Amino acid sequence: MTNEGVEGTERFLSPGSGRGLRAVRHFAEGELVFACPAYSYVLTVNERGAHCENCFCRREDLFKCGKCKQAYYCNVDCQRGDWPMHKLECVAMSAYGENWCPSETVRLVARIIMKQRVTTERTPSERVLLVSEFEAHLDKMDSEKDELNQADIAALHHFYSRHISDIPDEQALTELFAQVNCNGFTIEDEELSHLGSAVFPDVALMNHSCSPNVIVTYKGTVAEVRAIKEIDPGDEVLNSYIDLLYPTEDRKERLLDSYFFICQCTECTSKSKDKAKMEIRKLSTPPEPEEIRSMVYYAKSVIEEFRRAKHYKTPSELLEMCELSQEKMGAIFADTNVYMLHMMYQAMGVCLYMQDWDGAMSYGEKIIQPYSVHYPPYSLNVASMYLKLGRLYLGLERKKQGVKALKKAVAIMELAHGKDHNYVAEVKREIEEQK
Ligand SMILES: C[S@@+](CC[C@H](N)C(=O)[O-])C[C@H]1O[C@@H](n2cnc3c(N)ncnc32)[C@H](O)[C@@H]1O
Ligand SMILES: [Zn+2]
Ligand SMILES: [Zn+2]
Ligand SMILES: [Zn+2]
Repeated sequence: MTNEGVEGTERFLSPGSGRGLRAVRHFAEGELVFACPAYSYVLTVNERGAHCENCFCRREDLFKCGKCKQAYYCNVDCQRGDWPMHKLECVAMSAYGENWCPSETVRLVARIIMKQRVTTERTPSERVLLVSEFEAHLDKMDSEKDELNQADIAALHHFYSRHISDIPDEQALTELFAQVNCNGFTIEDEELSHLGSAVFPDVALMNHSCSPNVIVTYKGTVAEVRAIKEIDPGDEVLNSYIDLLYPTEDRKERLLDSYFFICQCTECTSKSKDKAKMEIRKLSTPPEPEEIRSMVYYAKSVIEEFRRAKHYKTPSELLEMCELSQEKMGAIFADTNVYMLHMMYQAMGVCLYMQDWDGAMSYGEKIIQPYSVHYPPYSLNVASMYLKLGRLYLGLERKKQGVKALKKAVAIMELAHGKDHNYVAEVKREIEEQK
């Protein structure tokens, strides 16, 4: 295994974290550390027609695959480029009709299997880490994870066996799904809407920190890694795997459950933001610790219940859930408390879906300040909230506030996405149009 590859960085053994990536030169804030084309990727079903299946370009003049009428492309070149992968689904989608429903992970794994068959050499996505080297943590699978894994394997057979000859055996598939769960990425747009799933092997070499020094953004199906802090030679390059809104205990639980490690980063040790994240409402008689504990328990269960309810409840039922839970939590938690913010964020999403722009805007206004406090200085969550809010203001003819919010978004995005990113150009155009 060569240590070279991604210029300016090298693969090394990071004490306590397995393999990792470290800098061999200085990187300034905002500098591109490296880019990595996707090894395999899949556009999410909900974005069909809005993005090209091949290059993920967002445009209105895409044309449909004549056979399935479900996949959309920029042009014939994109259609041809995607055919080796799309052929796994084109006929099957027509044949199964509404019953065609493999999960996105299953769709991605089917593509990885095909890609592995046609690749004989190290791909440009694997300059420092090969897909075949991905950590799987097979020894840490409990019965619940085992069941999910079995269901994925069954779905792969069900939806893809006609199009993939000699599907790998059970053991190999168990490992592949576990590797994808531990090393896979989701691709989001500038407002953090989900666009698809992918594997970026070199990006997956980076270990996690709750106080990361890089951010990953996407240009089509290429991942770009930019420094959000100064990085010195010898420093490990660390990325965040999770939403950093939540307090230490929640983050640790999530990292242990999904990635099987106990985070010992500076933030998890200092817990410096936990107090603000768990802010209690100022009352004449402060709540007892037991009351706080039970409200945290309630908050976590309502968050989980809401996550499930999104699949079957109507938007107005969902909004009611948000409002009721905020009312209940509001007896103990301040409005800046992250559990309150979580439900406000969900409510904002429902309002946007229902095209209730005023509703969405007033939630956004409550969220943005505490978000800026809880998240690290350069955060895609904060940028996307400014962006949504700015666009809402402009839609509601509140020009001054709109421009101000969009400028805040641009300031973060120029650093995180790079000045030449399409998203940055688009937002700048929106600002310009107001002059
Ligand atoms: C995407 S991989 C990162 C590369 C990995 N270290 C390797 O050798 O393949 C994720 C895995 O790396 C390890 N890891 C990542 N961040 C870590 C951290 N902060 N502390 C300990 N282990 C970590 C965990 O085993 C985790 O499941
Ligand atoms: Zn395209
Ligand atoms: Zn098709
Ligand atoms: Zn941490």
